[in-house]
Amino acid sequence: MDRINFVTSTSRTLDDKLLGDVYSVVAPSMRSNSGYYDPSSIEVALQAYEPHRFREWSQPLLLSIFAYDGEKMVGTGFLKHRKFENVTTEAGGYLFGGFILPEYQRQGIGRKIIETQIDHAKRIGIKVLRGNASEASLKLLQDLGFVEIGKHEDDALKSKDGAKAELHTVELKLQ
Ligand SMILES: CC(C)(COP(=O)(O)OP(=O)(O)OC[C@H]1O[C@@H](n2cnc3c(N)ncnc32)[C@H](O)[C@@H]1OP(=O)(O)O)[C@@H](O)C(=O)NCCC(=O)NCCS
Repeated sequence: MDRINFVTSTSRTLDDKLLGDVYSVVAPSMRSNSGYYDPSSIEVALQAYEPHRFREWSQPLLLSIFAYDGEKMVGTGFLKHRKFENVTTEAGGYLFGGFILPEYQRQGIGRKIIETQIDHAKRIGIKVLRGNASEASLKLLQDLGFVEIGKHEDDALKSKDGAKAELHTVELKLQ
């Protein structure tokens, strides 16, 4: 963890190189969840992170965080505004794209990325942060103060028994 360098950016666009690097982190990271989800459904879910698709739906970004080991990107996390019931777009924040390369997981990188997202959200006046937690990220988000407020079926992911996978909707209220 000492040699990991965190680069945060409030730039609203991602260039082709960054989009390629993000995919090269997300693909193995998502596949590392094959103990939780049906592997062929992971391949379908992964399509959302193909550069041309991710470029579209990730915008407009408030914050991107990239973790590097030397030149190599090893972790990602993003923040954008989102409107929730009774919460304006400006006061709502949505965390997404939290992925760590398998060989870098469980070293505190994901925690550091989420802490940075929370700090930035507070600074810019976000009052409610939400995200969708996988089975792998739920406990970590709860440790950081998020509470589960519901579940929703993912469009692509299936559980090992073939049913639609349910992701956990988590929320953190900020002062
Ligand atoms: C979930 C993830 C982002 C966490 O990042 P990380 O750098 O590994 O996490 P940290 O080292 O900061 O924190 C470790 C905690 O994360 C949780 N965690 C990490 N990997 C996990 C796994 N495979 N299963 C269950 N919990 C896991 C645990 O709570 C763990 O605490 P513990 O080691 O005391 O049990 C990362 O493991 C990952 O990319 N996983 C695969 C993709 C994914 O599910 N991303 C989330 C999309 S919503």
